[in-house]
Amino acid sequence: MSLTVTPLDHVGVEISGLNLEETISEATQQQLRELWDEHAILVFRDQHITPEQQIEFSRIFGPLEMHPLKATTSEEYPELFVLENGSDKDKFFTAFYNGEEIVGRLDWHMDLHYTARPNRGALLRAVVVAEEDGLTGFGDLAKAYDALDDETKALVEKLEVAYTFSMQRRHMRYVNLDGYEPGPFSPKKPADVAFPDFADAAYPIVVKHPISGRKVLEVVEQFLDRVITPQQFGLSNDESIELLERLVEHGKKAEFTYFHHWKKGDMVLWDNWRAMHCTTGTKPGIKRVINRTTIAGDVTLGRVLKGE
Ligand SMILES: [Fe+2]
Repeated sequence: MSLTVTPLDHVGVEISGLNLEETISEATQQQLRELWDEHAILVFRDQHITPEQQIEFSRIFGPLEMHPLKATTSEEYPELFVLENGSDKDKFFTAFYNGEEIVGRLDWHMDLHYTARPNRGALLRAVVVAEEDGLTGFGDLAKAYDALDDETKALVEKLEVAYTFSMQRRHMRYVNLDGYEPGPFSPKKPADVAFPDFADAAYPIVVKHPISGRKVLEVVEQFLDRVITPQQFGLSNDESIELLERLVEHGKKAEFTYFHHWKKGDMVLWDNWRAMHCTTGTKPGIKRVINRTTIAGDVTLGRVLKGE
């Protein structure tokens, strides 16, 4: 199997020549793992495959993990997590943005970041696509780190940030709340959607990638709460807030991000130790189905804060 690698606009690559009807040789599997480590975001097109084939392909990148939200895991394929818009569960994920009702919008995040032990990565495959909206954004935080100026790099090298898990977007300090209103069924606490609760998690602002060794800017807007003891590093509280605002905006710049407009059969694989992602959501009643498989993380990148 001969793979062709084409860079996307800013970050990540598109890979063509992958035929999942054929057995993938060990050499091609190794090439795919190396491409994933090098580029963090891999796009494949026209993969009209079965759930079994998706699960088997995903295993090339590591053992698979079940998602904590078991309610939406497929009964037939426990490794498969079905992300569905346009179902009776929409009301829990519906909110208002500048008066517009949107289902399933999510701010930039890394999966399971709030546990201190994020997934290694995940693969999404489009089964039913929305004609408009429903984009997934990916941001390369290794490239974002590399582009920081030397003064900022020296400053953030010493700092840690804390993430505070919450079901309420209004409680998140670094997401854009302008024009935001929760929906009438937006969950208020984790138990409302059968989700566990989590203690705060802390990360160094600069995390060394366990495989590539690249430095990753570990600042994503969702659940981001504070710099830990900023005064010990010569920063006032206000300065630490300004720093996090600046780093959040930096990571979201177009030059470090890619927004995927889904077509049926598209697959995107991302490295959750290096790339953040977000979803733009859909209008109410619009059907969208994405099959997701998750590659388990075997490294604890942060630490759980207990009563700090
Ligand atoms: Fe996610």
